[in-house]
Amino acid sequence: MIDKRMLHSLSVLTSFFILAGCSDNNNEDHTATTGNESAEELPDENSEQSEEIGAEDESPSDDDTSEDVSEEAPDDEGLVDIDFEDDLMEPSSIKALVNKQYGLPEDYAPDDLVTVDVPTVLENPEVRQLREEAADALKEMFDAAQEDELYLHARSGYRSYQTQVQLYNSYVSNHGEEAANRYSAQPGHSEHQTGLGMDVTSESANLQLTEAFGDTPEGKWVEDHAHEFGFIIRYPQGKEEITGYQYEPWHLRYLGEELAAEVYESGLTYEEYLIERGITIEINQ
Ligand code: DAL
Ligand code: ZN
Repeated sequence: MIDKRMLHSLSVLTSFFILAGCSDNNNEDHTATTGNESAEELPDENSEQSEEIGAEDESPSDDDTSEDVSEEAPDDEGLVDIDFEDDLMEPSSIKALVNKQYGLPEDYAPDDLVTVDVPTVLENPEVRQLREEAADALKEMFDAAQEDELYLHARSGYRSYQTQVQLYNSYVSNHGEEAANRYSAQPGHSEHQTGLGMDVTSESANLQLTEAFGDTPEGKWVEDHAHEFGFIIRYPQGKEEITGYQYEPWHLRYLGEELAAEVYESGLTYEEYLIERGITIEINQ
């Protein structure tokens, strides 16, 4: 399997391609915008006008346009800093980008996994773990839901590379490779290996991971509030061509409160959000 992190490092100066509106069966690379033209739609509360320009003239004439000649603030001013290599390509980064294009080393495992302190569904102790920061946030989120009389259950969190091998192979055996690839990451490409992904469900969804969870009161609550605790719904409805996966209302990815809120407010997937920020990433298969 090609390690896209290395590939990108080698190719970054010649610049990569991007996308928008790619079709299901188009596997070619795409050259398009980095999204800069719409970056100003993101919050930019710190933008200041240079009112001092021309201040020595106490009575500027009506046709003095110097006040309008303020420098553009950087597109990402006021937003969470994101560095491609240090944040997105670093497996241990909270902001790590893991998808079909960007994988993790086979031997990567987080060094701060803890068992989550919330109701769980599965017996396997491995998948009841998350990285400590994400586990703390998950508990806060579950407690907040409970205050609204909604009861969440954690199903699958951290999965090692080897666990993902077994899971993916069983899906392929049962449903075929094409189907499996729409809902299961191949080994080395699952956010579950980062220890920052958790699948959640509820009794109203029979403790299963089904699209119906998104229509339950618990699923709707998660959609509205997960970002307040640092999580995003990573595979939203209607974004399969961008994320590569069908709708998963249950799959939460921890990004930290600030970044999760920015992604949520943007209404975009993580990939689209990064592109909107002008960060060049490869997307689509
Ligand atoms: N279901 C998600 C895509 C995973 O396998 O990581
Ligand atoms: Zn998941």
